[in-house]
Amino acid sequence: MLSWNEYHEEDTLEATSNAAAVAVRNEVLAKKPEPEVVVETAIEPAPAVVNEEILERAAQAVASLDVAPGLEELEMGAARVSVDEKAMINCRADLNQLVPFKYDWAWQKYIDGCANHWMPQEINMTADVSTWKSNDVLTDDERRIVMRSLGYFSTADSLVANNLVLGIYRLITNPECRQYLLRQAFEEAIHTHAYQYCIESLGMDEGEVFNMYREVPSVAKKATWSLSHTHSLSDPNFNTGTTENDQTLLRNLIGFYAVTEGIFFYCGFTQILSMGRRNKMTGVAEQFQYILRDESMHLNFGIDVINQIKLENPHLWTEAFQQEVIQMLIEGTQIEIEYARDTMPRGVLGMNAAMMEEYLQFICNRRLAQLGLPEQFPGVQNPFPWMSEIMDLRKEKNFFETRVIEYQTGGALSWD
Ligand SMILES: [Fe+2]
Ligand SMILES: [Fe+2]
Repeated sequence: MLSWNEYHEEDTLEATSNAAAVAVRNEVLAKKPEPEVVVETAIEPAPAVVNEEILERAAQAVASLDVAPGLEELEMGAARVSVDEKAMINCRADLNQLVPFKYDWAWQKYIDGCANHWMPQEINMTADVSTWKSNDVLTDDERRIVMRSLGYFSTADSLVANNLVLGIYRLITNPECRQYLLRQAFEEAIHTHAYQYCIESLGMDEGEVFNMYREVPSVAKKATWSLSHTHSLSDPNFNTGTTENDQTLLRNLIGFYAVTEGIFFYCGFTQILSMGRRNKMTGVAEQFQYILRDESMHLNFGIDVINQIKLENPHLWTEAFQQEVIQMLIEGTQIEIEYARDTMPRGVLGMNAAMMEEYLQFICNRRLAQLGLPEQFPGVQNPFPWMSEIMDLRKEKNFFETRVIEYQTGGALSWD
């Protein structure tokens, strides 16, 4: 178990004054690796020069600081916030006050996300390295799937993170949702890190993999579709507050949560997890499994945000807008089906493009239902029911147990 001492050994050494602490100190010193030789540039302290004028100006500035108008400028107002004033978009209450909560589900997702924290380096990639370097373990079709998946995802998570931070964070005017968005943004960084970790471990051509979203048509189409929903939001002058602009924000949320994270991730995830189920590239598959857990929470959070905005602003959800959203989801499904055909020209890993097409139509129906819209592919079935098992935390509740316990105790302070 990790303890505070291991993280803060320097502090511990300072504080040692009794026998128990000396024992801890000796233990820490025994574990301590040889220090690396670091060449540091010596910093010579500059001779003191006291400027009376600056001292006087600083004192005057502090004395004349008028607190009330300053706080008024922080957000829309400095008054105490009541739950009724809080709103998902166009809120005029102070956004620096996290509580009282209005959307408990957003705070709960933040807590759940933190409890499921993981890092890519924890996963053993040794078997994958030898599998990837050997010429007779994977077929060419399986290798293509690994390459394409890492090609798409290694940049897709950066697109998602940039859209969160540079686009939607500013426009979602609710502190508990922003708290989850900050958590999600960090998880997206971990995902990009995980893909980079796989690419580096396997010794892939990084230039080739990271440029697939520009150079491989079936990958480029997905990235282009997602990016086309970011442009207006990344304009620093864009603001919500009109029906037209509020609908633009909704389009972006649907484009990123329901289509990019909700449809575009599913062919690649299914392929890599199917590979893991066949005991091939199990390290990569485990990384994808953790990522999929995070992504299903991102998706659920996004759907809740979209539905809450609809609830608070019913005038945005017009018949014409609904038709537009249905079209967006059908477009996303079609683009993902093209990706499935490109990555599976033949049957591979117990699946083929036709099965994936049905699966994606099944997923599209689910997304439509989650948004309160009618299904567009009646009668389709889920050909990969095991994917639902992997995604559903309740069904496989022990998956994270060990890891979660490690993190929750590892981060706690120990005073004895
Ligand atoms: Fe992600
Ligand atoms: Fe995500």
